[in-house]
Parts: sequence; structure tokens; C-alpha cells
Amino acid sequence: MDSRFKFLNYSRRIYKMTSTKDIAGEIAELKKKLNAVILAHNYQLGEVQDVADYVGDSLGLSQQAAKTDAGVIVFCGVYFMAETAKILSPEKTVLIPDMNARCPLAAMIKSDELRKVKAEHPGAPVVSYINTTASVKAETDVCCTSSNLLKVSDSLDSDTIIFTPDKHLAAYLQSKTEKKIIPWHGYCLTHVKILPEHIIRQRKLHPEAKVLVHPECRLDVIGLADETLSTGGMIRYAKSSPANEFIIGTETGIIHRLKKENPGKKFYPATELAVCPNMKKIDLWKVLASMKNMEHEIRVPEDIRKKAKKAIDRMLEIV
Ligand code: 13P
Repeated sequence: MDSRFKFLNYSRRIYKMTSTKDIAGEIAELKKKLNAVILAHNYQLGEVQDVADYVGDSLGLSQQAAKTDAGVIVFCGVYFMAETAKILSPEKTVLIPDMNARCPLAAMIKSDELRKVKAEHPGAPVVSYINTTASVKAETDVCCTSSNLLKVSDSLDSDTIIFTPDKHLAAYLQSKTEKKIIPWHGYCLTHVKILPEHIIRQRKLHPEAKVLVHPECRLDVIGLADETLSTGGMIRYAKSSPANEFIIGTETGIIHRLKKENPGKKFYPATELAVCPNMKKIDLWKVLASMKNMEHEIRVPEDIRKKAKKAIDRMLEIV
């Protein structure tokens, strides 16, 4: 075992003996010292969400990254999210507390594969989900997130759209538009774990509950839901709805925030299986270590960054 690894293990044991309150206090001090902002996705561990300055969905996180005047962004999410922040704010230092927190969906299409699809459908614009690498974004006309994919598709003149990388999101979009959607065949490993039988079972157990699902779910799951929403949409819906119970068809990390912001309401995961192991790689200790050691810094080659930024900016102009 190399000595750095030994040290990390030792530090982790010490951390486990330290209360999250102490760690959170140290993080707050470092935040001031570094002029840092902590951005966290709704799927992060509760302890991480609780130290963040902003917790939100992919769209909200991109908007925050574009407008923050902090010098350092500590991004608690998966790699493509931190990379998006760096693309939008290249002058800032963007840190991700665990470099291995990757989105398998984003890895399901490569830029050369996208170039091939473009050559097969000349003239068709490319809409890429924000869950893509910078080099795929660089080959994309406009990005979208789960909260704006219909708006983005409507904004384009073309009747045919190439949509990457999520086939379930593409199917959902196809169910909402007259345009021809040419899908890529990627999918989210976590959302496909949510099955129709889970929704049916939970509805039987909680007949009064509203069913909210994410558009990365399969279409037969979406067909059983009351609402199909981004994670940010779920947060807003739960707050404003007169309903008191909700069945949540997305990654279970969002339940922490839903409960925290709606103490009088009840939230049931559609299935406990919907856990993204990558989102769970970041914990409070890693956030602290990241800020102490200024690690791990996100870098994007400038030529790719500039092209990718165009596709993200175009989305941010639409919403
Ligand atoms: P949201 O933009 O709805 O938070 O989507 C999160 C996500 O990446 C799901 O995999």
C-alpha cells in the first residue's frame, strides 16, 4: 500500500470519529478563505447537500456556474457537471472531490460516433443532453436538460433532430413532438432500474400519493406517472402541490431534500434500487480534502471548450 493511500485511510478513520458538524465547520471556514462556492446536485448524499451553497438540477447548476463570482467552484456531482461548470467559467478553478464520480450515460457516446450519425443525416441539428462529455458537446448544436428538452426542440427550425445520448429521454421527447427524433442508444443505469411493477406496487401501498418520475425513466414507467419532471421540477412540484404524499421515481438522494423542505409531507422512493453509485462517491470528508488540497481540478482543452460552450450558451438563451 503506498504511503499516500495509508494516510488517506488514516485520515478517513479520524474523520469517521469527527462529527459531521466539525467537518462542516471546517468546510465553511475554507469556503471563506478560498472565496469558494459549493454546488451540489439533488442526488448527492444529504451531508454534502447540507454544506452546499446551492443544491439543484443540471440546469440550475449550469446557471449558477455561469453567474457565480466565486473564484473556486467545488462541484459535488458527476464529472460532466463539473466539466460543464469549467466550460462556462474557464477563469475559475473548478474542483471535483472525487475524479471517479462519472456518469455512465455520458460515456455511452463518443464524438467520432456522433460525427458518423451527423454524416448519415446531413442538415439535422444535434441536441445533446447535458449528460455528455465536452467533446460530444463540441459536436452538438444545442444542449438540453431534463427540464427544457421540449423547449429546446421547439426552438429549432428543423423537422428532424438527432438526439443524444439517452434513448428513453429521446422516446419521451418523441411522445411530445411531431418532429422526427433520431435517438442514440444510451440510457441511465439507475433510472432503468425503476420498473412499472414498482410504481404499481407503491400506488397500491399509497393510493393518495402523486407519482413523480424523471424523463430518463422508461416510457412504460412514465405512462404510469402523474407528472414527468426534472429533479428541480420535482422539488418545486412537491412544495406547491396540495398533496401530502409522493412516490418518487428517480435517484433516491433527492428524498433528503424533499423531506427537509417539506417536513409535513411523505415521500416514498419508487424503488430503493434507484441509487447512482457515482453520485454517492462524494462524501463530506472528500469535500474537505478537496478544498484543503485544491484537488481535483477540472481542465478542458480550449478548442473543445469554446465549441462546447456555444451549445450550452444556446440552451441557456432559450430557457
Ligand atoms: P436533472 O437535471 O433532472 O437533475 O437530471 C439529473 C440527471 O443527470 C439524471 O441522471
